[in-house]
Amino acid sequence: MSREKIRIYDKTWMEYDEWYDSHQALYQSQIKVLKKIVPSGLGIEIGVGTGRFASLLSVQFGLDPSLNMLKLAKQRKVKVVRSFGESLPFKNESFNFVLIVYTIELVDDPLSFLKEALRTLKRKGVLILGILDKNSSWGKFYMQKAVQSKYYKTFHFFSPEEILKIFKKLPLVFKVAFQTQFCPPPDIKDIEKPKKGFGQGGFVVLKAIKTQ
Ligand SMILES: C[S@@+](CC[C@H](N)C(=O)[O-])C[C@H]1O[C@@H](n2cnc3c(N)ncnc32)[C@H](O)[C@@H]1O
Repeated sequence: MSREKIRIYDKTWMEYDEWYDSHQALYQSQIKVLKKIVPSGLGIEIGVGTGRFASLLSVQFGLDPSLNMLKLAKQRKVKVVRSFGESLPFKNESFNFVLIVYTIELVDDPLSFLKEALRTLKRKGVLILGILDKNSSWGKFYMQKAVQSKYYKTFHFFSPEEILKIFKKLPLVFKVAFQTQFCPPPDIKDIEKPKKGFGQGGFVVLKAIKTQ
């Protein structure tokens, strides 16, 4: 885990958070996709950031190493925990679901990161992973931006197929994916209706169930 990556969020939390206000149709489209998949029950978002997703999806807990990001998540009524996803301060099988959005891209070892997330998930619990599909027009746009951007230069971009390969190494069975952001970057004008699957939209959410 790189502390430098966290420092970026600690410094730019306000700018990060305001991006959602200036991209409302995009944000609401992403929420619509997540609502298709996020179940009820006790859940946590790992890499909760400022709580933009956890708060609107009624995810009770949010974990993040960045104190400044967490301050805002707390104001949004998320129960916050300051820690790294690589070592979660929770007992085995604590949660009905674990949500991870735009965070797997920042970790050094995605397989161990997900193993630790699964440790805290109950049997038959749900793992929900949201990514920017690197093969989409949005993925290509942000990979181009990554050369200069303070946020995206630390990102390792994934495709849904690559995530599914990682899932196969874990006690997980993939269930379904939903996608949005069908209009080309840099923004969308209207809130979009989610579609099943992946391969068309920039934002893809994958749902998998813990088997053991
Ligand atoms: C791109 S932001 C996404 C925040 C939120 N999920 C969202 O979509 O708005 C990535 C977040 O992951 C956090 N993060 C980075 N490395 C992490 C790690 N190893 N464990 C948990 N969170 C991490 C950062 O501090 C940051 O808040």
